[in-house]
Amino acid sequence: MPGTCVVGLQWGDEAKGKLVDLLTANFDTVVRYQGGANAGHTVVVGDNTYKLHHIPSGILNPNVLNVITPGVVLNPPTILKEIDSLAQQGIEVKNFKISDRAHVVMPWHIEEDRILNQAFVSGSENIGTTLRGIGPCYRDKVGRTMALRFGDLFRPDFKDKIQRIATAKEQILSSLNGQPFSLSVDEIYSEFAGYANRLKPFVDDTTAILLNQVDQDKRILFEGAQGALLDIDHGTFPFVTSSNSSGVGVSAGSGVPARFINRIIGVIKAYATRVGGGPFPTEQENEIGQHIRDLGNEYGTTTGRPRRCGWFDAVAARYTARLSGVDMLSLMMLDVLSELPAIQVCVAYEIDGKRVTDFPSHVDDLRNAKPIYEELPGWQQDVTQVDRYEDLPENAQKYVQRIGQIVGRPVGIVSVGPDRKQTMFLEPFHASC
Ligand code: GDP
Ligand code: IMO
Ligand code: MG
Repeated sequence: MPGTCVVGLQWGDEAKGKLVDLLTANFDTVVRYQGGANAGHTVVVGDNTYKLHHIPSGILNPNVLNVITPGVVLNPPTILKEIDSLAQQGIEVKNFKISDRAHVVMPWHIEEDRILNQAFVSGSENIGTTLRGIGPCYRDKVGRTMALRFGDLFRPDFKDKIQRIATAKEQILSSLNGQPFSLSVDEIYSEFAGYANRLKPFVDDTTAILLNQVDQDKRILFEGAQGALLDIDHGTFPFVTSSNSSGVGVSAGSGVPARFINRIIGVIKAYATRVGGGPFPTEQENEIGQHIRDLGNEYGTTTGRPRRCGWFDAVAARYTARLSGVDMLSLMMLDVLSELPAIQVCVAYEIDGKRVTDFPSHVDDLRNAKPIYEELPGWQQDVTQVDRYEDLPENAQKYVQRIGQIVGRPVGIVSVGPDRKQTMFLEPFHASC
């Protein structure tokens, strides 16, 4: 079975949504396998912009099946809002399945996220989550006793389960911040019964669906959310999200064995951004960072927060490309660097006086890392209308090639604007490789 995965190699927002939409025409199915409504994936087609938090970015193609698998934490009202806003934009959500095994973000998760996000997790920094209840929901999934899966919403004991969990959550949450906290079981039940009613046509055993697709040799595209540096096990812990957002998470989250996923496309921006807390060695808290923020419109798709901006960090990207088993890079937002006379790329760190090219495993070492830069000349020419790689200015081509060289993987796709059309394939793309 030809399985391809698109995965972000930085701290998220690498333009995965744009790429998935673009590649969808080559596939039968598009799969979101981890994360939840913390994601914000943007697809631009002509004058229309679609902001997707939950529904896979293949949804604009009516012939493709879009699937949300067990590894995702579901936010039912967000999904419904998305279905409605897509309908207003003329897109009918019908070829769509949601796993009955996916866990559901409940109101107590959002409250717990709000309370705990005020805590310092390292030094005097907090995680700066998206406040979508992601961490608390994954915590309950792993803890099992207070978890609710999507399939539970359709069972006769659903209200009893809410009652039992809500009683425990009232105690836990009020002890967390010393404030009384109460939940109305009747209200929560009727709210979620309403969501279940509307989402009933989509609930299914997606593991069985995908395993059948594997048997039938269908072409599946997996859409990563967040980025590999936010991976719970391999990212910049504790400043991470709560799922395996690097390439290693595809199989566990989707239920498709790893041996059927035979191509990984690593998505990178031509520079770096981060939203929320945590070390960011190449961050530019100066006019360069502001220039990138302005030109790249670097404001969060989900929370609207200004994104922190900086130079491309090849130490980090080389690590995440190797970790994710990347075959090919897709380099996005090249146009954003077009006005700069010179561009820096971080090729190593200096940590405690030593030159280091392996990405540090402890957040304190990363915080102490001083970037060692290589300077490359800019091209100072608009590239947003260029549609053949050979027609890019020579210095832009050199930049692309140098990034591929230092990261250690070939660049196969280059993006010079948000629209589908503003994309160059360095070689023809096929679903099977
Ligand atoms: P995702 O979370 O990885 O899907 O990325 P986001 O949608 O959060 O952020 C990427 C932003 O960049 C979106 O606003 C896209 O429309 C936009 N975008 C995508 N590719 C390009 C590009 O090549 N150049 C520019 N200037 N913007 C792009
Ligand atoms: P997409 O899919 C960028 C960040 C948050 C915070 C950390 C933990 O659009 O690339 P969480 O709410 O997940 O517990 O927050 O992770 N974060 C993202 N940053 N893009 C995302 O998704 C993100 N999803 C979570 O800002 O630092
Ligand atoms: Mg995003």
